[in-house]
Amino acid sequence: MDKFIIKGGRKLMGEVEISGAKNAAVAILPAVILADEPCVIENVPNISDVSISLRILYEMGAQVDMLNETTYRIDPRGILNCCVPYESARQMRASYYFLGALLGKYHRARVSMPGGCPLGDRPIDQHLKAFTALGAKCTIDHGMVDVTADRLRGSQIYLDVVSVGATMNAILAAVRAEGLTVIENAAKEPHIVDLANFLNSMGADIMGAGTDVIKIRGVGHLHSTTYAVIPDQIEAGTFMIAAAATKGDVLIKNVTPKHLEPITNKLEKIGVNIEEFDDSVRVWVDGPLVKTSIQTMPHPGFPTDMQPQITTLLCLAEGTSIVKEGVWEQRFRYVDELRRMGADISVDGKVAVIEGTGKLMGAPVKACDLRAGAALIIAGLAATGVTEIEDIYHIERGYACMEQKLQKLGADIVKKSFPGVSVKKAM
Ligand code: UD1
Repeated sequence: MDKFIIKGGRKLMGEVEISGAKNAAVAILPAVILADEPCVIENVPNISDVSISLRILYEMGAQVDMLNETTYRIDPRGILNCCVPYESARQMRASYYFLGALLGKYHRARVSMPGGCPLGDRPIDQHLKAFTALGAKCTIDHGMVDVTADRLRGSQIYLDVVSVGATMNAILAAVRAEGLTVIENAAKEPHIVDLANFLNSMGADIMGAGTDVIKIRGVGHLHSTTYAVIPDQIEAGTFMIAAAATKGDVLIKNVTPKHLEPITNKLEKIGVNIEEFDDSVRVWVDGPLVKTSIQTMPHPGFPTDMQPQITTLLCLAEGTSIVKEGVWEQRFRYVDELRRMGADISVDGKVAVIEGTGKLMGAPVKACDLRAGAALIIAGLAATGVTEIEDIYHIERGYACMEQKLQKLGADIVKKSFPGVSVKKAM
């Protein structure tokens, strides 16, 4: 069992380089299946969700070569097997992108129901609605999702809820379908634009990604490409908050400041100073942090994946803050752990009221999901004394070299292994 051990109280100072975006990479890697030739993907983050995606591709018959630490050449021409078994799929939510990609290329896919962070009910009805609209037959049997189609025909797809996953899967399935597909009420996150840009770089015809209507004209062939994944907006936001929580001064490099605007706006309201450059932001604090109200929403709203981190920062601000969760049913499960560190937070359903106490104390805590784990790291960095975080495999699903990056900024954080203790796998 691995733990992070943090001695809090040090200001983060210096520069940090942000990795490629997890939520873009886990869609782009399966999307390579759609190509008729090999592709080179750059700026791929070194995280366990990526390792799982690459392993699934390899197990299906693709040739996967690592060209350097963040660049992979993937040749999908050897794929013979259109099945993603339970053992692989259960380890991450994004395994559902293999459904759309395999359906789009081979007109059939069999993928175990996906795992991922336990954030409440996570249905895939909108993904299946999109596949069905394109002419596929979808069944769920013994935990496996089966989708098959004799032919895929472009169609009108209206998503009943704004869903990142369903939007991306609809794009993947439609990109080689016959004729025009129109996705309405589409999600607008930067990773959706990135997936569309990647597919367009292979010869796809996708317009409107980043708006709520996406139009896809199916093409018969997708050629090779070399493409770099966008920077991770959530990793960048996490470092911005870690800098603010420790009252530090950090230059966060390899970011797209435009993608950070929903986070930047809220942090400025809390009293954090932010200076934007072309592909970096400087974050520092030289005054008091103050209360605010936040509601998470689909992009361009405040991202739900930053909610645990900003709630932690508000524990260190003056006054009473309110945070409403607008996406997931169970995104406040980490609050019990923050209370162990002295936080004064009450939760009623999807609303948390935070009484800023200005300080946190180190304690032994457990990461219950990926972003909860990031929040506990921030809490540990800002707290007095020692914080020990268990179940850090959640954090390693989505943050590349977290402890090394923090150490470089002056944090006292180490990863310790405790051999012989078995742990439950990420679900
Ligand atoms: C993605 C992100 C996740 C982020 C979330 C919201 C990936 C791999 N994960 O998850 O980090 O927290 O977007 O920004 O990119 N819903 C349905 N039916 C569906 C699909 C979704 O009702 O078929 C609901 C969900 O229960 C949720 C909401 O729609 O309440 C948004 O979910 P969605 O955007 O699909 O999240 P994911 O793609 O799973």
